Amino acid sequence: MWNDFPLLPDNASKMGFQIDLVWWFLVALTVVMTVLIFAAVVTFVVWFRKKNDGRVATQIEGSTQLELLWSGIPLVILMGLFGWGTAVYVQLMRPPADVMDFYVVGKQWMWKVQHPTGQREINTLHIPVNKAIRLTQTSEDVIHSFFIPAFRTKKDVVPGRYTQQWFEATKLGTYHIFCAEYCGTKHSQMVGTVTVMTQDDYQNWLAGVVAGESPEETGKKLFEGMRCVSCHPVSDKTTTIDGAPARGPLLAGIYGKEVALKDGGKVTVDDSYIRESIMRPLAKVVAGFEPVMPTYEGQLSEEQIIQLASYIKSLKGSEENSGAADGGAKK
Ligand code: CUA
Repeated sequence: MWNDFPLLPDNASKMGFQIDLVWWFLVALTVVMTVLIFAAVVTFVVWFRKKNDGRVATQIEGSTQLELLWSGIPLVILMGLFGWGTAVYVQLMRPPADVMDFYVVGKQWMWKVQHPTGQREINTLHIPVNKAIRLTQTSEDVIHSFFIPAFRTKKDVVPGRYTQQWFEATKLGTYHIFCAEYCGTKHSQMVGTVTVMTQDDYQNWLAGVVAGESPEETGKKLFEGMRCVSCHPVSDKTTTIDGAPARGPLLAGIYGKEVALKDGGKVTVDDSYIRESIMRPLAKVVAGFEPVMPTYEGQLSEEQIIQLASYIKSLKGSEENSGAADGGAKK
C-alpha cells in the first residue's frame, strides 16, 4: 500500500542519484537540527523552571569559546553543502560532448518537440536509453517550465530566449512531463510523457514516424527562401553564392566560436546569439561589417529560428574559414 504513494518519483536518470543524495542530506540535517533544538527547549524549560526556593538567577555575560563553536560548526556544514551542491549543479549544466540535440517549443497549452533527425511530436518525447539528451527550449507565448520529475530536471521555457537542460535516462519506461510554471487556464493540462526506449526500439520508432525534414534541411531552405544568402556567404569568404560581395559575415564554421564585435566586445556564437542577430541585428554587429541587416522579428516563428540556427550550426568551416571567424561572423 505504501508503494502506491512513493516518497519520491522514480529515479530514471544518471544525475538523479546525486541530486537525491543532496536532498536527503538536507532533509536529514533539518530533521536532526529540529529535534535537537526542540529537545533542548523542552529539557531546559523543565530543568530550569522557577522553583519557590528564593534563589535569584545569575547573569552570564557571553562566552567567546561557545560563540566560536556554534558559529564555526554550522559554517563548516553549510559551506560544505554549498560546495557539494555547486559541484552537482555544474555537472547538471554541462552536457557531455556527444549530446543529442532536441528542440522544445512550449505554447499555451502544449509541448512541441523535434528530434535531431526531424521527427516531431506533441506532448510526448521518445528518447533512447543511456544517451545524453539536450533540450534547447523556447516559448511562443508566456513562461512555461519543462519538468521531468523522474529525471530530476526542470528548466523554465521563456519567450524571447533559449534555455537548455540535459539528462541521460538510465531506465526504460514512461515518465511524466509537467509544465511547472503557472501559464494560464489549462496549465494543469500542459502535461505529457517521456518514453525511454532501447537504442533499437528508438530507431524503429523513428522509422515509423514520418520524418519530414531535419531542422537543418528546413533551415537551409529558409536561409535561401528568406534571402539570407544574398548577404551571407556560406562557403567562400568574400562572395555570396549569387556572386555579390559579402555584406555579412561568413557563417560556415562560425558556430561555437568567439567573434570580435564592432564596438570592441566579444561574443560566442551560440543559439542565443544567432536568435538575437535575426531578431535584433544591430545589437551586436561583428567587427568589419556595417549595421545593415534588417530585423526579421515577426516574420519567423520560433521553430523557424531554431531551424535556421541548426542550419548555421551544421555549416562546417574549413581551416581558412574558421580563421575568418576572428574578424567576420554572423550578423
Ligand atoms: Cu505551461 Cu504551465
